[in-house]
Amino acid sequence: MRYFVTGCAGFIASHLVDRLLKLGHEVVGYDNFSTGFLQFLEHAKKSANFTLIKGDLLDIERLTKSLQADCQAVFHFAANADIKFGIKHPDKDLKQNTLATFNILEVMRQKKIQCIIFASTGSVYGEAEQIPTPENAMFPIQTSLYAASKVAAEALIQAYAEAFNIQAIIFRFVSVLGERYSHGHVFDFYKQLLNDPKKLRILGDGRQCKSYLYVQDCIDGILLALEKVNEKINIFNLGTDATCLVNDSIQCITEALQLSPDLHYSGGQRGWIGDNPFIYLDINKISKLGWKPKLNIQESVVRTVNYLKQNPWILGIRV
Ligand SMILES: NC(=O)c1ccc[n+]([C@@H]2O[C@H](COP(=O)([O-])OP(=O)(O)OC[C@H]3O[C@@H](n4cnc5c(N)ncnc54)[C@H](O)[C@@H]3O)[C@@H](O)[C@H]2O)c1
Repeated sequence: MRYFVTGCAGFIASHLVDRLLKLGHEVVGYDNFSTGFLQFLEHAKKSANFTLIKGDLLDIERLTKSLQADCQAVFHFAANADIKFGIKHPDKDLKQNTLATFNILEVMRQKKIQCIIFASTGSVYGEAEQIPTPENAMFPIQTSLYAASKVAAEALIQAYAEAFNIQAIIFRFVSVLGERYSHGHVFDFYKQLLNDPKKLRILGDGRQCKSYLYVQDCIDGILLALEKVNEKINIFNLGTDATCLVNDSIQCITEALQLSPDLHYSGGQRGWIGDNPFIYLDINKISKLGWKPKLNIQESVVRTVNYLKQNPWILGIRV
C-alpha cells in the first residue's frame, strides 16, 4: 500500500511512518517542520520506500502536486498540537487544524482518494459530564481553541465522508508519551528541573487528573482499527484504562531523575485556560477490536524521561 502521512516529522506520526515502512508499505511524508524534526525521520530516510516532501498544508498548490492519486489513504496528523498557547494566536488552530484539514479533504476529493485516518483529541469532549467518556458522549462546552478547531475538522471529515464516499477513521487520543516526545507536561517539567533541580513550578494545584498513552500502543491501536473497520465513519477513543494526578506524574519524573525539588503551585483546579481538570476516556470500543495498551502510565512517563535524558538536543541543548 502507498500512504500519505501529514506531520510525518512530528512526535506521533514519525513513529507511524517507521511502523508503516516496517510493514512493507510505501510512505510519502509531508511536513513543514514547524514543530517536527528531521532527526525523527533518520530511520525512515534510509528506506527506499520513503519519500519526504517539505511542504505546508496551507500551500494548496504544493499539496495538490504532492498528494498523488495512487495513495490508498491519508494519515492526517499534522496540526498545531499545543493547546496552552492557543489564546496567544487565536487564528493558529483554525488555520493549522481546521483549514489544513479542509485542504487535505479537497485534494483527496479531487484525486478520488478514499480513506482518511485523522488524529483528533480527547479534548473535544471539553469538561465531560460522563466519565469515563465514551465516543458518543455529548460535547458540553469547548474550552480551548485547539479542541474547537479539532471538532470543526472532525465535522468536515464526516461531511466529506458522507458526500464523497470517503472512509473516515477518527482517533481521539489522550496525551501521548514516549520516545521523540517533544512537547507537553513531562517535557516542561524535565526542562525546568534541568535548569534548576531544586525547584519545580506547577500550573494549577497538581490535582488535575489525566490519562496518558504510550506512543507505540497508540500506533498499535490505529493500525488495528485500520485493518478491522468497514464503516464509512469510525470514531475511536485511544487512551489507557487508568488515570493519574499531575502530582503522581511529578513523583514519577522526580524519582526517575532522583531529585526532590520544592514544588510551587500556581493554584486553581485548571493550570491554564482550556486545561481540563479530569480526562478519562472510555476505551471499550477500541478494546473490543482486540487492542490493549502494553505499558501503564508510570512506565510511559519513565520511558519519556529516559528518552529526554538521552536526547538533550531536543531541549535545544548542545550535547
Ligand atoms: N501528542 C499528544 O499528546 C496528542 C494528543 C491528542 C492528539 N494529538 C494529535 O496528534 C497529532 C500529532 O501530534 P504530535 O504530538 O505528534 O505533534 P507534533 O507537533 O510533534 O507533530 C505535528 C507535525 O505537524 C507538522 N505541521 C504542523 N502544521 C503543519 C502544516 N501546516 N503543514 C505541514 N506540516 C505541519 C509539524 O511540523 C510537526 O512535525 C496532532 O494532530 C495532534 O493534534 C496529539
